[in-house]
Amino acid sequence: MTSNKIKVFAPASIANVSCGFDIFGFALPDLGDYVEVWFNESGKLVIESITGADGLPTKPELNVTTVAAQALLEAVGEKRGVSFNIQKTVKPGSGLGSSSSAAVAGAFAVNELLGNPFTLRELLPFAGVGEQLASNQLHFDNVAPSLFGGFSVVRSNEEMDVLSISYPKDLWVVAAHPQVEIKTKQAKRMLGRTMPISNAVIQWGNVAGLVLALTSNDYDLLGRSMVDMLAEPKRSKLIPHYDKAKDATLAAGAIGTNIAGSGPTIFSFCKGEASANKVMSAYKKVYGLSNLEVNYYKSKINPEGAKRIK
Ligand code: HSE
Repeated sequence: MTSNKIKVFAPASIANVSCGFDIFGFALPDLGDYVEVWFNESGKLVIESITGADGLPTKPELNVTTVAAQALLEAVGEKRGVSFNIQKTVKPGSGLGSSSSAAVAGAFAVNELLGNPFTLRELLPFAGVGEQLASNQLHFDNVAPSLFGGFSVVRSNEEMDVLSISYPKDLWVVAAHPQVEIKTKQAKRMLGRTMPISNAVIQWGNVAGLVLALTSNDYDLLGRSMVDMLAEPKRSKLIPHYDKAKDATLAAGAIGTNIAGSGPTIFSFCKGEASANKVMSAYKKVYGLSNLEVNYYKSKINPEGAKRIK
C-alpha cells in the first residue's frame, strides 16, 4: 500500500548580493526544486527519480534533498519509509542556490507528509543539514530565501537568526548564467581565511548601506553599496567575460552588477522592467560575441518561499 503523494516547490535564490557574503539572499520565481513524496513500505528512504540535472547522487545518504528529509524524520522518530521524485529546474553549480532549494524542498516535503509537525522557521536546521552536505559549511543565505521567500538577512548563521527585510516594489533582477560549473566548496576555498581591517571597514559600511537602501527604496544608495571587497575580486576571475558584462550592464543602466552566490551566474539589479530589458540586451551583446552557451533570466524578487503544490 502506498500513501497519497504530496508535491512541493522550493525556489532558487541569489546569495551574497555583493557585500553580504554568507548573510544576504533573495528568492527567484519559477526556478527551483520540485519534490514529490509518499510513504513506502520498505522502512527506508528511496529516490525513485531525479530529473533536470545529471550526476546527482541517487543514494539517499548522499543526496541533499533526502539528507535534509532524513534529519527531520529522525527528529520526530518516524520509522516509515519515504519515496522521492526529485525534479530540478536549477542546475547544481550555477550560483542560483540549487543545493539550498534541494534541501528546503526535502525538509518541507516530509514536513507536509507528516502533517506539519514543524513550523516554517523550525525547518531551518533540517534544511541546513542538507546545505552543509553540499558546501561543507553551515550558511543560510540561500536556504532562508528559499524557505521564506523575499529578501533575507542572516544576522547569525550559528544562531540561525534569520530576518526578512522589505525591498523596493519596482526592483527587477536580470541574470546571465554562462554554462560553466563552479562548485561552492571550491569557490569557498579560494577566499582564504582573513581580510584586512581596511577592507572589512568598507565591507560593513556597504552592508549597512545596502540594508538601508532596500528598506528605504533608495536606488542610488543601493548602487553605491553594491561593492564587495571579499569574494568578487577573486571569484570573478572564474567567470568568463565578467568584467565586460559588469561594465556593459552598468553602462546600460543597471543599479549594480555582481556575482550570484559563488557564480558563475552574474546578476544585476534594475529599476523597473524597461531598464531590466536594456540590461538584458547588454548581457546578450557581451555573451553573443563569445562561443559560450548562456541562459538569461529576468524577474522581480519572488515574495513566496517553499510551498505545497499538490
Ligand atoms: N555564500 C555562499 C558562498 C553562497 O558565496 O560561498 C554559495 O553557497
